[in-house]
Amino acid sequence: MISYNEKERVFKLDTPNTSYMIGIVDEENFIGHIYYGRRLKEDEAAYLMRTGEPPFVPSKNNRERCSFYDCFPFEYPTGGVGDFRESCISVRTPGGHVGSMLSYVSHEILKGKPALEGLPATFGTEEDCTTLRLVCEDQYVGMQVELLYTVFGDSDAVTRSVRVSNIGTEPFYLTKVYSACIDMDFRDYDMVSLHGSWARERHIQREQIGLGIHNVSSFRGESSHQDHPFLALVDRNTTQENGEIYAMNFVYSGNFRAQAEVTQFDYVRMTMGIHPENFCWKLESGESFQAPEVVMVYTDKGFDAMTNTFHRLYKKHLIRGVYKDKKRPILINNWEATYFDFNTEKLLSIAREASQLGIEMLVMDDGWFGRRSFDDCALGDWKVNEDKITGGLKYLVDEVNKLGLKFGIWFEPEMISPDSDLYRAHPDWAIAIPGRPGTESRQQYVLDLSRQEVVDCIYGQVASVLRSANIEYVKWDMNRQLTDIGSYGLPADRQGELYHRYVLAVYQMQDRLTKEFPYLLLENCSGGGARFDPGMLYFSPQIWCSDDTDAVERLEIQEGTALIYPLSTMGAHVSDCPNHAVGRVTPFETRGIVALAGTFGYELDVTKIPQEDREMIPAQVAMYHKYNDLVREGDYYRIASYSQNHKYDCWQIVSEDKKQSLVTFVQVLNRVNFKSRRILLKGLDADKRYQVVFENDDNVVDRIYSGDTLMKAGLLVPNAWGDFKARLISLTEV
Ligand code: GLA
Repeated sequence: MISYNEKERVFKLDTPNTSYMIGIVDEENFIGHIYYGRRLKEDEAAYLMRTGEPPFVPSKNNRERCSFYDCFPFEYPTGGVGDFRESCISVRTPGGHVGSMLSYVSHEILKGKPALEGLPATFGTEEDCTTLRLVCEDQYVGMQVELLYTVFGDSDAVTRSVRVSNIGTEPFYLTKVYSACIDMDFRDYDMVSLHGSWARERHIQREQIGLGIHNVSSFRGESSHQDHPFLALVDRNTTQENGEIYAMNFVYSGNFRAQAEVTQFDYVRMTMGIHPENFCWKLESGESFQAPEVVMVYTDKGFDAMTNTFHRLYKKHLIRGVYKDKKRPILINNWEATYFDFNTEKLLSIAREASQLGIEMLVMDDGWFGRRSFDDCALGDWKVNEDKITGGLKYLVDEVNKLGLKFGIWFEPEMISPDSDLYRAHPDWAIAIPGRPGTESRQQYVLDLSRQEVVDCIYGQVASVLRSANIEYVKWDMNRQLTDIGSYGLPADRQGELYHRYVLAVYQMQDRLTKEFPYLLLENCSGGGARFDPGMLYFSPQIWCSDDTDAVERLEIQEGTALIYPLSTMGAHVSDCPNHAVGRVTPFETRGIVALAGTFGYELDVTKIPQEDREMIPAQVAMYHKYNDLVREGDYYRIASYSQNHKYDCWQIVSEDKKQSLVTFVQVLNRVNFKSRRILLKGLDADKRYQVVFENDDNVVDRIYSGDTLMKAGLLVPNAWGDFKARLISLTEV
């Protein structure tokens, strides 16, 4: 709900448990941030902007105007005229000047939520949500800025975005445009962010912060393995179950910067938006720029509450398509099984065996097109290699379908190999700085998707492959980051638009793909999980989490990913051992139990794995069918974190009606002469009674306990013999 108190000039945005307040102050119509936190009954907190205290009334105290600018809690701060903190927007006029200041002009409160032109964003019906559109202007620049805020009736999230228009007569250059800012009191916060590397994505980092600037960012052209478009400020005492959290997540897949700046007066300014590095967007008179959306979540109930707010919002208001609420087919992917060394017969032998075991789809990964037998050529030549795929693609797909399996295929549409027919024909289609040798990465360049003819050519090739056979799944990969930022298609004063135009083109291609092939299951991927972000989730209901499929490494990767994203989105497969990334040997059973917390599938040569492993597959498949509805739809609770305790990992899923729950416990290294662990369950109904079954341990007798006992006294999980042992424990209301 959103209300406006005309007399006090105060906006109050309410979610079920939080309030967000904005005020218009002074005759100059500054827009100030009043409050964000636990839900308030009244809208009387405008005094928090301290407009009664000197120097907070610039029109009456012009002598201290600069002091006012530098400490007022701005809702959307500008720079260059006296606020020395991080600005949210910067424009350069034709004269080369940069100062600006925004003042309120008008507003409207709308039912529903307008779509953001060209960009992914959360959505909702007129019944689901309400939007505030605040319009402000800088009359000297000729700039109008619209601040959009949406609240949902069923979520404690507030979403924000910004649209900038040139309402003057001269062009100007937008050199920075963030999407969200909160100015608030600093109260000894820790900063929580996600970091990693290839095969080590999204490890959680929590650090104490003090005065100064603290940020996470990517200017690699994608959200990246290394950093993540997420930032949370949390009270130093915040735990899984208790304590304050202010979190922001960016619905965008390119460069970003998320920052907390603690200032001289113990305020903190928290900002998020497109990274200003190498960003410069020319706005002609009458043109607009739409900045992407930020999702903000506040809670005073700790990480479990924050996580479930993001999960529920994304499941209901971000993810789309036929698979949104559906179980996904169990797939087997040939990447770790064969790498580039496969042909029709090899794939069919995997499919034949897989079909006997209950696997539902075969995915043909990299290496089926052009002359590609290694990663050194052919990206851009999306024509099936009939020397490998003898009989052609349609024959292969038909044969796989006859075995009762669906068929999926891998593409890397955004790339071009220097050794490709496409590059030989169009060397200027790669992103490059004219005259400067390009920087190769994995022996490839990135296509200049700011050119519509490039997008159309690649989309046309991909679509014609998809039209040629009954292909029901696409893995859309992106295996290098952007360098040598230059386009042969853009004029000099628009080169600074390339990064963002690139991301818009990726969205455009995926939009076309999902519209033309609405039945497709699309899985995004970027060298593992380098583009696992809400922007991509808008197009694909699942994303490949990491190229590291080791069950132990996955504990930390999946924990960090699940901090924000629903388990239904996390691409997770059982692979062979020794694990290809780390060389570790873990029990096949444990690999299955860890993968069950994601989309579930296989990434191995099922004709070659040990017989005892193969025999376990039907039981794993049965577990998937039994519990996937719960895993996809349920609330997720973190019980113990191996990355923190270095001993064991434990998480729990509870259905919304609290009738069913599933606990996963992974004892990483065994300790000799050790007793069982006591774990306190969460999210159950204290008054319900549950049958507790240790699904993969016949030695533990099934028992019935109340939710109250399980949450307060806990459950004992016996010590297991051997390393890397996992237990799956189900709870069902009786
Ligand atoms: C990336 C993906 C892998 C695989 C390879 C193929 O690394 O993450 O799963 O598809 O590309 O080249």
